[in-house]
Amino acid sequence: MTTATKSVGEPLLEVQGLKKYFPIRGGFFSRVKGHVKAVDGVSFELRKGETVGLVGESGCGKTTVGRTILRLIEPTAGEVRFRGQDITHLPAGAMRRLRRDMQIIFQDPYSSLNPRMTVEGIVGEAMTVHGIASGADRRKRVGELLERVGLSARHMGRYPHEFSGGQRQRVGIARALALQPEFIVCDESVSALDVSIQAQILNLLMDLQQELGLSYLFIAHDLSVVEHISDRVAVMYLGRMAELAPSELLYERPLHPYTRALLSAVPVPDPTRKRERILLEGDVPTPINPPSGCVFHTRCWLAEERCKLEVPEFRDVGGGHFVACHLVDAATATLRKDGKEVPVGAGKALPMAEAAKVTLEPAAEAPAAEAPAAERPAAEAPAAEAPAAERPAAERPAADDADRKDAPPPAATA
Ligand SMILES: Nc1ncnc2c1ncn2[C@@H]1O[C@H](COP(=O)(O)OP(=O)(O)O)[C@@H](O)[C@H]1O
Ligand code: SF4
Ligand SMILES: [Mg+2]
Repeated sequence: MTTATKSVGEPLLEVQGLKKYFPIRGGFFSRVKGHVKAVDGVSFELRKGETVGLVGESGCGKTTVGRTILRLIEPTAGEVRFRGQDITHLPAGAMRRLRRDMQIIFQDPYSSLNPRMTVEGIVGEAMTVHGIASGADRRKRVGELLERVGLSARHMGRYPHEFSGGQRQRVGIARALALQPEFIVCDESVSALDVSIQAQILNLLMDLQQELGLSYLFIAHDLSVVEHISDRVAVMYLGRMAELAPSELLYERPLHPYTRALLSAVPVPDPTRKRERILLEGDVPTPINPPSGCVFHTRCWLAEERCKLEVPEFRDVGGGHFVACHLVDAATATLRKDGKEVPVGAGKALPMAEAAKVTLEPAAEAPAAEAPAAERPAAEAPAAEAPAAERPAAERPAADDADRKDAPPPAATA
C-alpha cells in the first residue's frame, strides 16, 4: 500500500529529539552508576491515516520509542506532540483521557490477555473503566467489535486459551479498538505468528485503517513484514534513527549501510536478482556505552576515520528520504566511497556458507525488567493474574500453538 492510494492527512504525532535513558543502579546505596541509552534523540512524524514502520535489530530501542510516545514510560528528554498538543508533560489525569485515542497491540497475545477473563471482559474492560458502556450496551458493542475483527459475537464467553494464536491477536486488536482510538502502536504484533496468519492479521489492520482512519506506528524486527503495511519506513540502530523514507524508496534505493545490510538478509523471491549478503561484523554494541561518532562505525564495512569522530546528521536528501551517514551525498542522494557510487546490492561479499551463519533475527524479546505491570495500557487496570506465558506449557492446550512459530518468549512483552 502506498501513500498515493490512501488519504494521508496532517501530522497527528510529532516526535522531536526523544530520549530515554534507563538508570543503572548498583552498590550499597543503590547509586546510579550509569545509563542504558535505549533511545537517544529520535525524531519523526506520523500523519493522519498513515502507517510508519519502525525496524531494527532486537535491543535497538523500538519498544522503548513506542512506550515513551504513549507515556507508558516517561521520556528523559525530547517532545511528543499529539494533534498539535505537547503531551510530554501532561498530568496523569489528562494523559489517561488522551490514552483512549492512543492504544497499543502487543507481540504476544498469549501473555497480554488475562487468561482468567472472558473475551467479553477483556475487550469490554476499558469501556467500563472509562464509563463508556456497561451491561447490555457493553455486550452489544463487544459483539460488534468481535465481528469486525473476524471473530464471532458467540465467542464472547470464551477464554483466551480457547483460541489459536491468530484469533488471540484478533482479540488483542478488538481490545485496542474498544475506545475508538486514532493512533495505535503495533509492537511486533504479528512477529510470533506463522507467515500465512501474519498476512491475515496485516490485511485486517489495513482494512481497519481504511475504514476507521487509523494511524499506526508498526514495529517489527523484520523489514519484509513492514513493507506491505507501511507508507514510510524508519530504520533504527542503537537508539538512533539511521534512515527514514517512503517505503518504495527505502526498499529500492536504500542509502544507509545498515539498511542495506538488513535488506540483504531479506530473501528475494526472484532468483535472477542476485544480491550479496552483507555481513555485519561483531555484536550490537551496548547502549550503556555506545560508540563515538556514528554509532554504527564499529560494524560498518564502509567506515572512515571521521565516522569515529563526528555524529552524522539525520538529514533529508530529497523527497522525504532522511539518512544519517557521512558517505551519503545529498546533491545526488547516493552512497559514495572514495568518489564512486556504492551500488545497491553490493556489499562485502561472503561465501554462502559464511553468510548462512549470520542472523539478524533477535534471540529473545525485550528484557524481563521492561515494564512494570502498573504500566499496562488498554484498560489501565493491572492484571491480577500471572500472564499465561508464565504458566508451564503442560497447562496449556496443545491446539493453542497450532499457528504459532514457536513457544511464547519467557518474558511477557506487556
Ligand atoms: N526497563 C528497562 N531498564 C533498563 N534497560 C532497559 C529497559 N527496557 C529496555 N531496556 C534496554 O533498552 C534497550 C532497548 O530496548 P527495547 O526498546 O526493548 O528494544 P527493541 O524493542 O528494539 O528490541 C535494550 O538494551 C534494553 O535492554
Ligand atoms: S557514517 Fe560512516 S560508519 Fe556511519 S554508516 Fe555512514 S559510512 Fe558507516
Ligand atoms: Mg521490542
